[in-house]
Amino acid sequence: MTDALDIVDEWGPEKIVVVSHRRTGMKGVLVIDNTARGMGKGGTRMAPGVTVTECARLARNMTWKWAAADLFYGGAKAAIAADPASPGKEAILRAFVRALHNEVPREYVLGLDMGLAEDDAAIVQDELGDRGAAVGTPAHLGGVAYDRLGVTGFGVAEAAEAAAAHAGLGLAGARVVVQGFGAVGRAAARRLGDLGAVIVCVSTAYGAVYDPAGLDVPALERARDEHGDVFVTRLPGGAVLPAGQELLLDCDVLVPAAVQDVIDEEIARRIRARLVVEGANLPTSPTAQKVLAERGITVVPDFIANAGGAIAAAFAMDARYSAFRPEPDAVFAAVAEKLRGNAVDVLEEAGRLALTPHAAGRRLAQNRVAAAMRSKGRIPVRS
Ligand SMILES: NC(=O)c1ccc[n+]([C@@H]2O[C@H](COP(=O)([O-])OP(=O)(O)OC[C@H]3O[C@@H](n4cnc5c(N)ncnc54)[C@H](O)[C@@H]3O)[C@@H](O)[C@H]2O)c1
Repeated sequence: MTDALDIVDEWGPEKIVVVSHRRTGMKGVLVIDNTARGMGKGGTRMAPGVTVTECARLARNMTWKWAAADLFYGGAKAAIAADPASPGKEAILRAFVRALHNEVPREYVLGLDMGLAEDDAAIVQDELGDRGAAVGTPAHLGGVAYDRLGVTGFGVAEAAEAAAAHAGLGLAGARVVVQGFGAVGRAAARRLGDLGAVIVCVSTAYGAVYDPAGLDVPALERARDEHGDVFVTRLPGGAVLPAGQELLLDCDVLVPAAVQDVIDEEIARRIRARLVVEGANLPTSPTAQKVLAERGITVVPDFIANAGGAIAAAFAMDARYSAFRPEPDAVFAAVAEKLRGNAVDVLEEAGRLALTPHAAGRRLAQNRVAAAMRSKGRIPVRS
């Protein structure tokens, strides 16, 4: 078993707060990883069995995601070990934020992650009597509904277009495979289609629907709304492949946008895409990343490509005390500009340093965090 003190390294965490409440059975943790570039920010997860270690890893991931996106927040994450489907969810959530009233919202603002939805963010605001206590609230409360708007998937597509141009591959007419048709996958497919790409395959956990002549994305979205993820098996046209086979199709761009750990070394050797753009978090193993680089396949790392949701959350942070509703157009414009620039920066850096894009992106983020730590006197200035 890992001791909380074993988690600490040269970057953080700066603070770990474990809270519990006997009557509701609430058990939770807040990890503030590194605040050199700004206050700690990251979503709040509710899932049975979450651990302090898992929360700390997610908080560290946020430190790099903010720095790689060059946005001035630090890494943080909160986790509540509970079943989000439990009837006691609201009482547990209220107990969690009450226990963290010293930290929220001055040091941490709750946001959405697995297990929490827009109305849960509203409950947090209600419990602490502070509109600043949470972001991710519904639009009718002045929030930025980033999942509903498809901001993350939109950003994945923008990063894909910039990376494709960098790799000498035009997106117009490019054949694209999208794994996963949830909040991220469907919005990515929609935007990639708008940018002129041909979506030849989309998948869900129930299988993949494939048509080399191109799929009708708006029709797929309607089918998804009607039938849920099982829609892939109920379409009139297109071959249905078992889930997982879509990763190996002959295509130009592959967008894993479903779950983590889907591309290991063996799959990486068989991928036929020229460009992989990571919509999901952690879809490729470090060995797979090396294999893809050796095979000349360009990869846009998750913490670059799927940062659209984080950028939307940054807008929501600024809007917390405003009487004006945040303007979605401004969010989309910022996501497009930032992610296009960041994707190219990371690919250029990877080329210059002969590193994988993941290693180059992490290095860029670490340099930015280290510079902030040095300026603030948190680490010695290099001579
Ligand atoms: N929602 C966001 O704003 C956001 C932001 C950053 C990163 N992410 C990451 O993107 C990924 C997807 O998130 P989401 O919000 O779209 O989730 P979601 O639950 O809305 O959708 C997930 C989709 O993946 C499909 N799926 C699951 N297992 C699959 C498999 N083995 N093969 C093919 N498809 C499979 C599901 O059927 C569903 O269509 C996750 O890794 C998440 O952490 C999401």
